[in-house]
Amino acid sequence: MKTKIIICFVVLVSVFIIERENNFISKVSDKLLMKPRTPPEAGGHWMNVRQNGSIMTVSYPSEPFRRNFTWKSKSMHKPGKGELPASRSSGRKHILLLATTRTGSSFVGESFNQQGANVFYLFEPLWHVKQALNLQDVSTNYTVLSTAYREVLQQLLLCDFSLLESFMKPQPQDHVAAFLFCRECSRSLCENPVCTPYVKEVVENFHCRNRRCAPLNLTLTSQYCLQTQYTAIKSVRVQKLETLRPLVEDPRLDMRFIQLVRDPRAMLASRMVAFPSEYKNWRIWAKTSTIPDDDNNYEIRKLKEHCDNIRMSAETGLECPAWLYGRYMLVRYEDVARFPMRKAAEIYQFTGIPFHSRVKDWILNNTHSTSEFDSIYSTKKNSSQQMDKWRVTMSFKLAQVVQKVCSPAMTLFGYKFVENEATLRNLSVSLTEERTFL
Ligand SMILES: *[C@@H]1O[C@H](CO)[C@@H](O)[C@H](O)[C@H]1NC(C)=O
Ligand SMILES: *[C@@H]1O[C@H](CO)[C@@H](O)[C@H](O)[C@H]1NC(C)=O
Ligand SMILES: *[C@@H]1O[C@H](CO)[C@@H](O)[C@H](O)[C@H]1NC(C)=O
Ligand SMILES: *[C@@H]1O[C@H](CO)[C@@H](O)[C@H](O)[C@H]1NC(C)=O
Ligand SMILES: *[C@@H]1O[C@H](CO)[C@@H](O)[C@H](O)[C@H]1NC(C)=O
Ligand SMILES: *[C@@H]1O[C@H](CO)[C@@H](O)[C@H](O)[C@H]1NC(C)=O
Ligand SMILES: *[C@@H]1O[C@H](CO)[C@@H](O)[C@H](O)[C@H]1NC(C)=O
Repeated sequence: MKTKIIICFVVLVSVFIIERENNFISKVSDKLLMKPRTPPEAGGHWMNVRQNGSIMTVSYPSEPFRRNFTWKSKSMHKPGKGELPASRSSGRKHILLLATTRTGSSFVGESFNQQGANVFYLFEPLWHVKQALNLQDVSTNYTVLSTAYREVLQQLLLCDFSLLESFMKPQPQDHVAAFLFCRECSRSLCENPVCTPYVKEVVENFHCRNRRCAPLNLTLTSQYCLQTQYTAIKSVRVQKLETLRPLVEDPRLDMRFIQLVRDPRAMLASRMVAFPSEYKNWRIWAKTSTIPDDDNNYEIRKLKEHCDNIRMSAETGLECPAWLYGRYMLVRYEDVARFPMRKAAEIYQFTGIPFHSRVKDWILNNTHSTSEFDSIYSTKKNSSQQMDKWRVTMSFKLAQVVQKVCSPAMTLFGYKFVENEATLRNLSVSLTEERTFL
C-alpha cells in the first residue's frame, strides 16, 4: 500500500515537472481546441511578436484605461510605517505576492488561499502570458514581457480576465476556459459559486481536485471576484518591482506588495532538485566539484542576474519611495519557516486581512507536519527542519560560488557567508542574521 502511494506520488510529481519544463500541457491543449482570435477590445491593438522566426499576433491594449485621477503622492498625507494608506474608491484591496520559485511562496500564498470567502486568490496566472510570449526574441526583451505582465496583473486585480484570455491557449470560447493553469491551486475557482455543476465529459487540465466542476466560466468568475474584498495574486514572473509602479498609481487599485526572498544558496540547492534538467550543468558541477571560475559562463551569469533582480526590487521597496509608502513588505523565507505564526500575523496585519482562526489552524497543521509525502510544491513540511536541509547536501564549493555571485543580495537580506565546510554543515550555527525589514 505504502509503495503504491509512493509510486503514484512519484508519477504525479514527474508529470508536473514534465509539464512545467516542456510546456507539455500547452502542446496538448493546442490540439484540443483551436479557435481564431477574436478582435481586441475597443481601444486595443494587435501586438506582433516574433515566435521562432515567424510572427505571432497577440491582442494587446495600448491604453488599458483612461487615466483621469488626481492621486498626488507628495501632497497627500504620508502614512507612517505601520499605518495603512487610506483605502481607495471601491474599498477592495489588492495584494501581489512576488516571489521566485522555491522561496516558500506556496506557503504564504496558500495561507491566503485558505482564507475563504473574502479573498479571491489566483495562483501564477502569468504562466499563460509567459507561455504565449516565451520566445527567445521576446524573453530577452524584458520591456515587452514586463509590460504585458503588468497590464494583465492590473486587469486581474480588478477582476477582469479579458486580457489574460487573449494569452490563453486554447482561447476561451464565450469566456469559458478549457484550461486555466493550476485552477486547482485556487480555492476561489473550485468552490461555489464558480464551480458550476459538472455536466458532461470535458477534458480540462488542472481540473479541481476535490470536486468536479464544469469548465471555468470567466464571466461568472469575474462577477464573483468583484464581490470579494481582496484580490491576492501570487506570481514568480515579475522581475522588477519598479515596473509595477503604474498599479499603485491606478486609483482603482489599493496595492500591497509582499516580496518573498530566500537564501540564494538554499534556492539553488532546492531548484537543482526540483528542476533537474534545467539545472543539469549545476548538478554535474556539484558532482564533479568542477565549477567554472568564469563570470561569462551562461549559468553563472543567469544566477547573478537572478540575484541582482531580486536585490534591486528589494532595494526599491526598502528605500520606501513615496509611491510605495505602506505598500511594501519584505519577507524572508527563513523567518516564515522558523516563526510561521508570527510572520503570518505580520503579513495579515500588513494586508489588512483579518487573521482568522481557520488560517491559524491551517498554519499549525501545515508547519509541524511530519508527513513524508512532501510534494515539491507542498506546504506540508516541518518547516524549521526543512529550512536547513540544503546545508547537509550542498557542496561547499557550490556554496562558495553562490556566495561570490550573489554577495550583494546576501548582504542586503542578512544571510551569513560561510568560510569553511565545517560551518556550512554545523546546523547549530545559524546563517540567517536576525533582522527586521521595515
Ligand atoms: C521552431 O523552429 C525550429 C527550427 O526551425 C523547428 O524545428 C520547430 O518546429 C519550430 N517550432 C515551432 C513551435 O514552430
Ligand atoms: C475626467 O474628469 C473630468 C472632470 O471630472 C471629466 O470632465 C472628463 O470627462 C473625464 N475624462 C475621462 C476620460 O473620463
Ligand atoms: C524591446 O522592445 C521594445 C518594443 O518593441 C523596443 O522599443 C526596445 O528597443 C526593445 N529593447 C531591446 C533591448 O531590444
Ligand atoms: C457564464 O456565466 C454567466 C454569468 O453567470 C452566464 O450568464 C453565462 O451564460 C455563462 N456562460 C456559459 C457558457 O455557461
Ligand atoms: C487541522 O488538523 C485537524 C486534525 O487533523 C483537522 O481536524 C482540522 O480540520 C485541520 N484544520 C485545518 C484548517 O486544516
Ligand atoms: C521539526 O524539526 C525540528 C528541527 O529538526 C525539530 O526540533 C522538531 O521537533 C520537528 N517537529 C516535528 C513536529 O517533527
Ligand atoms: C557547531 O557550532 C557550535 C557553535 O559555534 C560549536 O559550539 C560546536 O562545537 C560546533 N560543532 C561542530 C561539530 O563543529
